[in-house]
Amino acid sequence: MINKQKITLTLSAGRKDQLIRDNLPQIAFSGRSNVGKSSLLNRLAGRKKLARVSAEPGKTITVNYFNIDSQLYLVDLPGYGFAKRRLDEKKKWSDLTNAYFQNNEKLLMVLQLIDIKTGPSADDEMMLDWLNATGTPYVVAATKWDKLNKTNQQKNLAALRETVGEETPVFPISSLTGEGVEILWNLIEKSVAAVNGVSG
Ligand code: GTP
Ligand code: MG
Repeated sequence: MINKQKITLTLSAGRKDQLIRDNLPQIAFSGRSNVGKSSLLNRLAGRKKLARVSAEPGKTITVNYFNIDSQLYLVDLPGYGFAKRRLDEKKKWSDLTNAYFQNNEKLLMVLQLIDIKTGPSADDEMMLDWLNATGTPYVVAATKWDKLNKTNQQKNLAALRETVGEETPVFPISSLTGEGVEILWNLIEKSVAAVNGVSG
């Protein structure tokens, strides 16, 4: 068992040379700006303000490593697709995230967040293509589930499943209500146990 309440922000890396390359497995939260990465992290940990959340996109501009019970890092990546960002800032973003994904042997899984209300953006599709092309293990979290009524939940979920393909698990979640978050945590715990050679 991993105590997910034992969470500390180890480092906010703003430069490539600060990226952590130690022995703990990493699970990266990837997705466009405003999709709900930081909110999900807070909800997972049961803390309101651990990772910064804002109504204004583009808040997270560093790679934030959260140490969970000294057993893994949850990594809050800066969001992509933020049109208002200046060109030099965009380049800084892509340099940093590219470096994050490059030769990262401890990257256990990417949690790819996609807004269930708006569906995958062009950038999301590029990210999915990249994950598929590189064979990086990933699952999809369909965020902001609470924003849709039941009919649209089913409709949009079916469309999203169609886009990502049946081999990719899709987990509907809401950081507002907490729906689906525990299921996602169970998956994270399992994959860490598997890599550590622990059964169950
Ligand atoms: P960046 O740091 O810019 O990459 O954004 P982010 O992906 O970390 O998004 P963040 O968690 O900051 O959330 C953006 C906005 O969406 C905030 O206003 C959140 O309150 C809201 N939000 C996040 N998750 C949910 C959700 O599940 N339901 C609803 N209704 N709103 C959400
Ligand atoms: Mg954020």
